Amino acid sequence: MTLIDAARDVWARAYAPYSNFKVGAAIRGKNGEVFKGCNVENVAYPEGTCAEAGAIAAMVAGGVTEIAEVAVIADSPIPVSPCGGCRQKLAEFGKPDVKVTLATTDGIVLETTIGALLPGAFTEDYMTRT
Ligand code: THU
Repeated sequence: MTLIDAARDVWARAYAPYSNFKVGAAIRGKNGEVFKGCNVENVAYPEGTCAEAGAIAAMVAGGVTEIAEVAVIADSPIPVSPCGGCRQKLAEFGKPDVKVTLATTDGIVLETTIGALLPGAFTEDYMTRT
């Protein structure tokens, strides 16, 4: 199963009754294991969580803290663009050169990287004075 297939599998289970926009994300951890997440909305709208955040939470809960690859899928006209918060969350656990595949359920695919999604990322380096 490809990482996009894993993202598509969890996409079907997304809970998005308010936006009607399901998103699925799959992360391959440094250890090779695949972790999945979907968006989970809430009637109190700001309390919803993104698919990427769910996949990251599953990865960390599984004892893995380094991302090797990411895939995100949605039923969108063009490949879904991760929100700003999720870009920062991905940058927390993945190096800038980590591949991110964005896909539509129709099969349009866009390949990018964590670094390209979040240029000039805020990192721990900014908090260290030498
Ligand atoms: N959403 C994600 O889960 N990931 C993205 O990359 C973009 C947006 C979700 C949040 C919300 O549940 C719905 O899509 C509409 O914004």
